[in-house]
Amino acid sequence: MGSRHGFETRAIHAGQEPDAATGAVVVPIYQTSTYKQDGVGGLRGGYEYSRSANPTRTALETCLAALEGGTRGLAFASGLAAEDTLIRAVAQPGDHVVIPDDAYGGTYRLFAQVQQRWGLDWTSADLTDPAAVRAAIRPGATRMVWLETPTNPLLGIADIAALATLAHDAGALLVVDNTFASPYLQQPLALGADVVVHSTTKYVGGHSDVVGGALVVADTELGERLTYHQNAMGAVAGPFDAWLTLRGVKTLGVRMDRHCGNAERVVDLLVAHPKVGDVLYPGRPEHPGHEVAAKQMRRFGGMVSFTVVGGEEAAVEVCNRAELFTLGESLGGVESLIEHPGRMTHASAAGSPLEVPADLVRLSVGIESVDDLLADLRHALS
Ligand SMILES: Cc1ncc(COP(=O)(O)O)c(C=O)c1O
Repeated sequence: MGSRHGFETRAIHAGQEPDAATGAVVVPIYQTSTYKQDGVGGLRGGYEYSRSANPTRTALETCLAALEGGTRGLAFASGLAAEDTLIRAVAQPGDHVVIPDDAYGGTYRLFAQVQQRWGLDWTSADLTDPAAVRAAIRPGATRMVWLETPTNPLLGIADIAALATLAHDAGALLVVDNTFASPYLQQPLALGADVVVHSTTKYVGGHSDVVGGALVVADTELGERLTYHQNAMGAVAGPFDAWLTLRGVKTLGVRMDRHCGNAERVVDLLVAHPKVGDVLYPGRPEHPGHEVAAKQMRRFGGMVSFTVVGGEEAAVEVCNRAELFTLGESLGGVESLIEHPGRMTHASAAGSPLEVPADLVRLSVGIESVDDLLADLRHALS
């Protein structure tokens, strides 16, 4: 199943041929740790032990590679497990990484609290400003420029193609965390990125019922290196988690269109509301990254952040009053979520350069009936 097929066709069929033994249309959950060999070394289809490879996981990995336009997809137990495997596969003590000054709090914590102790140096920079990235790069030492776009939770936009050139000129890899956009809205490899990272927990899985992560690459040698580390480090996705993610990914395209449509209506409400300060959404022409987003994204996504007039306590109150928008961490599921990043998802960045504004509220706009979502927000803000 190649690039001649459309996105939705690949989402439903890539890696998901009917089962050879039974004709089952849905990929089975191969809940097995090991495989019978036909004589010593006589593997069937290359399967010997499920940390190394498992057919349900292979189906998901093949599908993800097809959706991102890569040659290799790898599925992990979580987004952070995918990130950790990538970092340790390509960097070593003494190397340096440029990370966004508006990264997911857990990604920041992984670099600042874990990898740094093992000798990996990092600098945070405003990745929406190519000059700031150029200044942060240490030629010869910088192994990766690590990008999120749109960013979590401020929804900043970075120019993937421009930063790919900048990173490559310095001999570094460009890594793009594509969690917020999903492969339906944005294709970083086609724009020059070397590695795509996903928390598949979010839009890819889409139903808030599984935690997972993924890496996708175009370069076959890098793909081999990551596959080696996936097995050597062992943070793989289990068969049932891979199956749930694969079931979710089939509807990614239709879900994303509804997420985007509902988010656009939510933005219209927020912009006109007297209790709302700034509305951060890359689909707004006023957004500083709007032009770049329009160039590199199909639509603008289901994440919306805004500040509340009245400060931190007022923002917390809005989160507490919402009902249909469920108060909770995570994002990208069919159900709408609301949260206070400063006290919740990004609490680990408090006191750091990545601290987020205290009056900020983040919405993950789900795919419920949009009029119900608007009524809930009006109530929460009243
Ligand atoms: C943008 C982004 N990247 C990575 C992660 C980490 O993924 P996981 O929670 O699956 O480990 C998250 C989690 O919220 C995220 O939002």
